Amino acid sequence: MYRKERLGAADDGATSFTSSLDSDEWIFDADLLVDRAHLVMLAEQGLVGREGAAEIADALDAVGEEGFSSLAGEDVHEAIEARVVELVGEEGGRLHTARSRNDEVATCIRLAARGDVLRLMNELIAARGRLLDTASESVDTLIPAYTHLQRAQPTTLAHHLSAHERRLARDSGRLFDVMERLNRSPLGGCAAASTTLPIDRERTSELLGFEGPVENSMDAVSARDFATELLFVCSSVMEALSRLAEEVVLWSSSEFGVMELDDGFATTSSVMPQKKNPDVAELVRARAATVQGHLQAALSIVSGIPLSYNRDLQELTPHLSDSLRVAARSARVLSRAVESAEFREPGMELEVGATDLAEALVERGVPFREAHARVGRLSRTGFGTEDAVDALGDRLTRGEVGEALDFHRSVELRVNGGPGSAEELLDLGRRDLKSHGDALREIEGGIDRAYSRLEEVLAEL
Ligand code: ARG
Repeated sequence: MYRKERLGAADDGATSFTSSLDSDEWIFDADLLVDRAHLVMLAEQGLVGREGAAEIADALDAVGEEGFSSLAGEDVHEAIEARVVELVGEEGGRLHTARSRNDEVATCIRLAARGDVLRLMNELIAARGRLLDTASESVDTLIPAYTHLQRAQPTTLAHHLSAHERRLARDSGRLFDVMERLNRSPLGGCAAASTTLPIDRERTSELLGFEGPVENSMDAVSARDFATELLFVCSSVMEALSRLAEEVVLWSSSEFGVMELDDGFATTSSVMPQKKNPDVAELVRARAATVQGHLQAALSIVSGIPLSYNRDLQELTPHLSDSLRVAARSARVLSRAVESAEFREPGMELEVGATDLAEALVERGVPFREAHARVGRLSRTGFGTEDAVDALGDRLTRGEVGEALDFHRSVELRVNGGPGSAEELLDLGRRDLKSHGDALREIEGGIDRAYSRLEEVLAEL
C-alpha cells in the first residue's frame, strides 16, 4: 500500500525477507488499541471529522473480529490500515494522520510487553506462593545445606525453599521498577521529529493507560532500553528458576533422594521402562540459556544503530515476546512441579554437624581456630558420637557432644536468617507477597479504567 506511487511492485523475495507479519501477532491487539486511542485524539483535535472517525472505529472493530490471520501486508500496521481503507474507503486514510509506523510500533511493543509483564508478575507471585506453601509443610524436614555441592551444615527444606522465594521476590521488585520506565507512550513522536499538526500526546497516553508520553520524539521512536532492561529481568528470572531446576534434577535422583516428582510432572523413556525423568526442570534450565541469548541479541541489535528508527529494531521484538512468554511459563510449571512433589529427608552423616561441634567448643571457651582444627582432625576419618567424646572430652561432656550433633536442635539454634528463623522468613515472604499483589492490582486497575474510558469515548464518536 505504501510503496505503490513511489516504488511500484516489490521483489517477492525482498518482501518476505523484510516482512514482520509472522511475528506481529503478538502486537495485533495492541495495535488496534493504539489505533483507537489515536483516532479518538484526532477526532477531538478536529483532525478527523466525527462521522469519519465513527466509521473508522467500526472498521477497526471489524478488523478485530476478522482476526490476525486474515491480514495481509508488509507488517501488521500496514495490513490493518489497508483493511480499514478497504472497508471505509478513502476516508479511512485519515487514520494514519500525524503518526508513523515508528511511533506506532514502539507504542504497540510497550503495550504488549506491559500485558505480558503483568502476566509474568502474577505468575511470579503465584510461584512464590507455592514455594512458601511447600516450605510451610517442611519446617522440620532436615536436609543438608551445600556449598561446593558438598554437604555443609544441616538445614531445613523450609529454609532452603525460602531462599528461592527471597530470590524471586527481588525479581518481582525488578519488574515493578521496569514498569515505571516501560509504561510511557511514544505515540505522537511520529517518524522521528514529531509533526506540524496539533496533536495531543497527553491524551493518547492517558487513553492507553500510560504514565505520560516519552518526552523527546526521537527518543520515543528509537529507544528500546525498556526492552533490554526487561530482557535482563527475564534473564534474571530464568537464572533463578534454572538454579531451582538444577536442584530439582539433583534432588529427584536416587543419589540425592530428596524429592520424588509427581508422575504428572515427570517423563519416561522410550526404551527403559523404569525411567522417571525430570524433563520439565531440564527444559527450564535450557530455556534460561535461550532467554539470556535473547538479551545478548537485543543489546547487540540496538548497539549498532544510529538514531532514530532503523529497521534493525524490528528484529529485536521477537526476542522480547519470546522471553516474556518463556519466563512466565517456566515460573508456573516449575513451581507446580515442586509443589506437587513428595519430599523426604536424605539422612546426614554426623560430620555435617562439624561446625556445630566446633561452636560448642567455642561456648566452652576454646578459640574458634583451635576448635576448628580439633574438629577438623576428628573429621579426617569421619566420626561417630563416641569418637567425638573421646577426642573432645577435655572440654565437652557426652551430653554436650550429643546436643551439638542433634541436628533438630542445631537448626533451631541457628537463627539470624538461618533455619531457626524459617518461620519469620516465611512470614516475611507472605507479607511481601501481599504487598506485591496489592501493588499489582493497583496497576491493573489503572489500566482497566483507562481501557474502559477509551471504550466510552469511542462509543460517543
Ligand atoms: N514492522 C516494523 C517494526 O517492527 C514497523 C515499523 C516500520 N517502520 C519503517 N519505517 N519501516 O519495526
